[in-house]
Amino acid sequence: MGRAVRTALQRNRDRANLSFLLAVTFFVVFSVIVLSEVFFIEEKNRTGPRSQFHQNYRPATSQDSPSFVQSNEVLYPDDGDKFIALLQYSGQLRATGGGGGGIGTSGSSSTSGAAKFGAAYPLRTHPLPTAENLTATDALWLPVAATTFKFFVYSAYLDQRGNKLIRVIAATKTRNPERVWCRLWSPSGNDSQIVNGKVKVIRENWNLKYSAVFILCSVPHNLTFGLWSVSVIHQLHAPITNLLLIRNLDVPSPAFSLGPSLNTSSNTNTLAVCVKPLHFHYNRVNQLIEFIELNLLLGASHMILYNASIGPDATCVLKQYVNEGLVTILPWKLDMISQKEIRTVGLFAALNDCLYRCMHRYSYAAFIDLDEFIIPQQQKTLPELIGWLGQKLNLRTTASYSFQNAFFYLQWSDDNTIDRKYAPIINNFVTLRKTRRKTKLNPHKQRSKYICRPEFVVEAGNHFIWEFHPWAWYIECPF
Ligand SMILES: *[C@@H]1O[C@H](CO)[C@@H](O)[C@H](O)[C@H]1NC(C)=O
Ligand SMILES: *[C@@H]1O[C@H](CO)[C@@H](O)[C@H](O)[C@H]1NC(C)=O
Ligand SMILES: *[C@@H]1O[C@H](CO)[C@@H](O)[C@H](O)[C@H]1NC(C)=O
Ligand SMILES: *[C@@H]1O[C@H](CO)[C@@H](O)[C@H](O)[C@H]1NC(C)=O
Ligand SMILES: *[C@@H]1O[C@H](CO)[C@@H](O)[C@H](O)[C@H]1NC(C)=O
Repeated sequence: MGRAVRTALQRNRDRANLSFLLAVTFFVVFSVIVLSEVFFIEEKNRTGPRSQFHQNYRPATSQDSPSFVQSNEVLYPDDGDKFIALLQYSGQLRATGGGGGGIGTSGSSSTSGAAKFGAAYPLRTHPLPTAENLTATDALWLPVAATTFKFFVYSAYLDQRGNKLIRVIAATKTRNPERVWCRLWSPSGNDSQIVNGKVKVIRENWNLKYSAVFILCSVPHNLTFGLWSVSVIHQLHAPITNLLLIRNLDVPSPAFSLGPSLNTSSNTNTLAVCVKPLHFHYNRVNQLIEFIELNLLLGASHMILYNASIGPDATCVLKQYVNEGLVTILPWKLDMISQKEIRTVGLFAALNDCLYRCMHRYSYAAFIDLDEFIIPQQQKTLPELIGWLGQKLNLRTTASYSFQNAFFYLQWSDDNTIDRKYAPIINNFVTLRKTRRKTKLNPHKQRSKYICRPEFVVEAGNHFIWEFHPWAWYIECPF
């Protein structure tokens, strides 16, 4: 009896053990199936892009990179415009994401290390072109390689007013501009990092095929080298065709505090004048001298002009002012057809280049043309006028002063109150002869002109400012 019970208990226990074993076996088999599925898929992923890579690219062998300290490599998955740049350098692998994606990783410095990394992720690898033998330029239109449509870059500025970024002055297609990246370079050029380049079309484009644009390159907060220059690239492996010196690297950060106090004493307020590109073999000597001399009298300390095409006489005059340090002339050879492809030789690129060029260098910048003048009525100079306004109003957040336009028609007769003995001089200068204007002033924003504080402005237009810094605004004169 006792024995029978024991046997029955034993049998039950055996049965329980067996079903437990069966269950375990089932799970093991099931897991093996699942795991092999996973591995099979992984294997497929791994072989797909890599075989493609072998078709399209040479693998990064030691011949490709004789010195691995110098070798910059890029690894990226085969998924369109999102890529992962991996720069191998001095025993460090650094990764940065394009288009918001990205991976952080570290690895060995050898090429086999990079190959192992490439095998672990479905990535392609190929050394990037270097900027060896290239000198960084400023104020020179240079192409972006391998684009379908015209794409040129001119200058680059560090902009620390919000998230730290490099702002490149460029020109390209107005609608659906091609995708670009910025490659940030160290001073020696042996270190670089690729970041996303966002094309921001400058608003005043007159609906033409091409437009002035900004390219905004975000600067990673943990960049491991000092910034020096930037290349705008469309295809990672195309040769480097532009290397722009980054300006305003010397501006301390934060360069910009909320509501900086105005230095209202006129002799410390510096005013620069920005003029749109001179073209059609511009050669009007008297107009040029009148413009420069009158603006100097009105308190301008410097003038920035762009040379799309300037004739020999005007060049001779300008060289004199350049030697005196009063004028800067920047070359402006943009390969786009004026008025047909882009508005007036790309003037909006020039105006915004001038805005950023003046930023942190001059208190104010005036945007006027050679036949336009801003003339104060009570004060002798424009900085004095702004200083006087500062006593009337709180101008701590004033980004710009807008001035209404009136025409002084050239076909109207000359000023007859002038002593005739000065005629030989006066006859050369329209501002002395044509002293009568139309009574009617155009409303603000219609042909109006402005003087701005460059640090408060993001995007400059011809007659008004398109984008201010968040808390800055403008005032209309007279008010
Ligand atoms: C820099 O920071 C980003 C995100 O904060 C990170 O993904 C990346 O790995 C970092 N890079 C380096 C070189 O530390
Ligand atoms: C750079 O210049 C040196 C010396 O002239 C030359 O040996 C080298 O091949 C050049 N490198 C490239 C990439 O052109
Ligand atoms: C990069 O170049 C600079 C200046 O020539 C040099 O001091 C630095 O050691 C170089 N770095 C590497 C990793 O070659
Ligand atoms: C105003 O200019 C003077 C002379 O250059 C300078 O010493 C002073 O610091 C300036 N003040 C401000 C608030 O920028
Ligand atoms: C403007 O450009 C032309 C042609 O490139 C050149 O001959 C002339 O010297 C330049 N003038 C000035 C003032 O830079």
